[in-house]
Amino acid sequence: MRECDVAAVRRALLSERITQGAEAMAFERALAREVDCRDAVAVSSGTTALELALRALGVGPGDEVIVPTLTYVATATVVERCGARVVFADVDPRTLNLDPADVAKRITRRTRGCIAVHFGGHPADVAGLARCLGRERFVVEDACHALGARVAGRPAGGLGTLGCFSFHPAKHVTTGEGGAIVSDDPELCRRLRSLRENGVERDVARFEGLGLPPELREEERGEWVYELHTLGANGRLPEAAAALGRSQLVRLGDQLARRRQLVARYRAALARLPVELPVERRDVRSAWHLLPVRLPPRTSGVRRAEVYRALQRRGIGVQVHYIPVHLQPHYRREGHGFGDFPVAEGAYLRLLSLPLFPGLGFDDVERVARELGRALGAPR
Ligand SMILES: Cc1ncc(COP(=O)(O)O)c(C=O)c1O
Repeated sequence: MRECDVAAVRRALLSERITQGAEAMAFERALAREVDCRDAVAVSSGTTALELALRALGVGPGDEVIVPTLTYVATATVVERCGARVVFADVDPRTLNLDPADVAKRITRRTRGCIAVHFGGHPADVAGLARCLGRERFVVEDACHALGARVAGRPAGGLGTLGCFSFHPAKHVTTGEGGAIVSDDPELCRRLRSLRENGVERDVARFEGLGLPPELREEERGEWVYELHTLGANGRLPEAAAALGRSQLVRLGDQLARRRQLVARYRAALARLPVELPVERRDVRSAWHLLPVRLPPRTSGVRRAEVYRALQRRGIGVQVHYIPVHLQPHYRREGHGFGDFPVAEGAYLRLLSLPLFPGLGFDDVERVARELGRALGAPR
């Protein structure tokens, strides 16, 4: 956090409105500009962004939505929160993003679309997914890792039907908790703004009426009237949070550049270790949210848990992203189990995310590489 961030929050707190004011709108405009979209709708979390995106697209009971199993749980749970069925699919072994060939096998007449997670900041093959799903179905981008990523120069978030971001503190830009949906479609954005307010409609031109007796019809048109047309949520982002986001957004370019430098440094430092680093496809600029490396397979004698613990003991904050969601008890109760998605499961057993954040120094990278080498028993 910088002084300018604190000052922006302070200004917002001292302003006349601390929610539903000018800051959230200014943040939305700045975000839309950043990702080359016509509009952005700021909400209270990335999870809410995904749920409202599906609701805006009319997802409900009887529908199926395909999601990758290698993701944070929210990508899947939002589908159920809309009353629809989650259909898991496997990931591409190179990028660990949703595999269009596997998606193709899971399409039924109930399939409304898919959620494409840009795993670790590397955009999924949205064009390939859209081709295999056909024109009638959607591709919602779960771009929670990918603010600032690009494909052939086009920003992630604007590649599919709707793009969703998270502004959790682990992300490139934070609002404390927060999220947003971006789109070029004014009608979808209008629906999202209503869904963000519990589904309340305030546009008189769209009113359906309250069904009052004829002598009370005047009452239906009072200035106070609002109507509920559909179920939404309170998904509003407070003004102080939006002010923080807008202040942070200014530094996004520096963030991305620094992360790229750190990844290059990791590539050099890890070159002689038996670990696989994530790929970056030629037409892609990853946002490098994570640096998930793949350790040698278990058959080589390496135990991921031991490597994890050895690094943690030395104060190195490694993590594992992610446990395949279909293995979670909630989904195992629905019949899923180990063996269903071999690529994601095989990757999961080898994955270890190394520290990657702008405050990391090159000397820290060297130290992580040294300690990783030691934990793997490799030459240093
Ligand atoms: C891929 C992915 N999707 C969705 C989310 C949910 O975002 P939030 O925590 O802001 O609700 C996250 C958050 O970490 C995420 O990593």
